[in-house]
Amino acid sequence: MDHLPLDVTHLIHDLETLAGFTEAGFAGWTRRAFSPAFIEGRAWLAAQMRAAGLTAAIDAAGNLVGRRAGTTTAPTLVIGSHTDTVPGAGRFDGMLGVLTGIAVARALQSADIGLRHPLEIIDFLAEEPNPFGVSCIGSMGLAGALDRAALDRRDHDGRTLAEALSAVGGQPAALATVAREPGTVAAYVELHIEQGRVLEAANAALGAVRGIVGIRRVRLQLIGRPDHAGTTPMPLRYDALAAAAETVLAVERAGRATPDAVATVGALTVSPNQENVVPGVVDLAFELRSLDWPTVERLWQDVMDAAQAACAARGVTLTVGDVGDAAPMWTPDWLVHTIAGVCAELVPGAPTLASGAGHDAMWMGRIAPSGMIFVRCRDGRSHCPEEYAAPEDIAAGLAALAQTLLILDRQLD
Ligand code: HGY
Ligand code: MN
Ligand code: MN
Repeated sequence: MDHLPLDVTHLIHDLETLAGFTEAGFAGWTRRAFSPAFIEGRAWLAAQMRAAGLTAAIDAAGNLVGRRAGTTTAPTLVIGSHTDTVPGAGRFDGMLGVLTGIAVARALQSADIGLRHPLEIIDFLAEEPNPFGVSCIGSMGLAGALDRAALDRRDHDGRTLAEALSAVGGQPAALATVAREPGTVAAYVELHIEQGRVLEAANAALGAVRGIVGIRRVRLQLIGRPDHAGTTPMPLRYDALAAAAETVLAVERAGRATPDAVATVGALTVSPNQENVVPGVVDLAFELRSLDWPTVERLWQDVMDAAQAACAARGVTLTVGDVGDAAPMWTPDWLVHTIAGVCAELVPGAPTLASGAGHDAMWMGRIAPSGMIFVRCRDGRSHCPEEYAAPEDIAAGLAALAQTLLILDRQLD
């Protein structure tokens, strides 16, 4: 292992400081993309990047990009993740990867080490699902996948994604300047909490990721008819919520019946949502995940068949809104091997595993060899205030990310 002056105390302090940029009114910590707390957190993050010897600027896709030149004009090595959260989140999902990247840059600066490759540390915009129905917005931008249709999507207030992008410093009209040509990124590495239970079961602080599940996220609207709950006989009802309930159970059934998949209805709103009114409209969002994309498509068909039948039986109309797909991402074997070797040197027995969570690495994997380092998190919990990574595991993650970067800088052209 190379020796770098890695300062995990500073990193843990940064995690606590960034967590302080949070929205009121939620359990735990919340910093949704585009919120004032997110924008304030970004300003603080840019200052940390600059103090660590990086330039810091917002690119056209709204990513905060910290950059240091290399000693050659080789393609760029990129480290990244995200600092936006789900509502009622923890303090590590995404944040750990961005701040650990800055901590590595800080160590390179204090050791006055010049890498051959230029280095970028990126806080990608809006990795989490958001009202626009487009997640991984910033990493999609680097992959050249943000299209006009995405930019025209509107949030609940009618604001377009293009307008929201501009509000955080992006330039929707200049997205072409963000898309990275193949060959311009030498490799991408993302450090992230596992958000699962494999590392805990293996009693390992670290793990090397071999692949990330594909995800299909769908929004449905079920349109029935609001009626008086007391005077409308059962056979004469057009009950959207009863149809939605059967759809929810069909999603759960699909996931339970498929060992290598998961299926979730995470959001549902009822209108008018009044106990003495037969529900007129239900908006429902579900997602399907599997490392095997044909499995996702098969489950999609099963769920839609069940939803159509549930609606038809009640005279309820089913409309399909946004459908967002992110294909599974497989890390090239040589990169898995490199990362696994670093992890095993730091943590004997560190496993190689798949990711059931989606990450910006899914989109970076379309333009460059992309890999991930997982850090153990307590009880595998995430997307909740109980999310927690122990300082000694964070220290192991910092060492693993630094060593992986130094090896890639030496190995890659
Ligand atoms: O949903 C996910 O898997 C990620 O945490 N955004
Ligand atoms: Mn997340
Ligand atoms: Mn994440």
